[in-house]
Amino acid sequence: MKRTSRFVWLVCLLTTACSPMMIEFEGRRLYNPDWAWALDVRREAWQQPDEVLRALALPDDAVVADIGAGGGYFTERFSRELVRGHVYATDVQPGMITQLQERVRERELDNVTVVRGDFDDPGLPPACCDLVFFSSVYKEIEDRVAYMRRVRPLLREGGRVVILEFRPGSPGPGPPDAMRLSVDAIVGELRPAGFALVERHDFLPRESFLVFEADVEMRADSSLR
Ligand SMILES: C[S@@+](CC[C@H](N)C(=O)[O-])C[C@H]1O[C@@H](n2cnc3c(N)ncnc32)[C@H](O)[C@@H]1O
Repeated sequence: MKRTSRFVWLVCLLTTACSPMMIEFEGRRLYNPDWAWALDVRREAWQQPDEVLRALALPDDAVVADIGAGGGYFTERFSRELVRGHVYATDVQPGMITQLQERVRERELDNVTVVRGDFDDPGLPPACCDLVFFSSVYKEIEDRVAYMRRVRPLLREGGRVVILEFRPGSPGPGPPDAMRLSVDAIVGELRPAGFALVERHDFLPRESFLVFEADVEMRADSSLR
């Protein structure tokens, strides 16, 4: 890390160290908007966003929903990649919506629409998306099976859902162990919502990277686990 970015990181750490990473918001346990910066620091090293996008191989006119987009780390990358496409960036917390709007304005991400979703509904139009993307948000959703049933109609034909989630016991900082979900747990929740696991990428050191499709025959996805 360069000296200046190390300094910025240290200042941010000191100013937010007194506030918790997770907060109670409207009765739910959510990521603290004051900590949104922390999601960006040194993230290339452990989340490899360029490799994640490369693995998804989206055409440049694809439409993506970045659910629980937080500060917009992936939103910005999708926006720059999908030069003829569109990105819906959603969140439930006003503090995150403000950060998203600021990033979109300051970095002139003209193909991004910021949407305030509900806890149990993404708030997007039917058949809007080729990809519905969840990075470190899936675990924060309360009734996940019901939520994912609402996600299904958002997909266009051949559409995909991607879930990035911290693996239990993976190295480095991250959410508390009690909040982490195994691959089996995620696959088991998506199945009753009508999704099958079609790809699993194992190159990320801390997170599971799972790709699901709807309306495919429920194949023996245990072979992918
Ligand atoms: C750990 S942050 C991840 C932010 C972003 N996806 C990233 O990778 O940088 C989780 C985000 O999900 C949001 N969130 C939690 N529950 C949500 C829900 N039901 N619908 C949409 N967003 C949600 C939180 O407000 C928070 O901004």
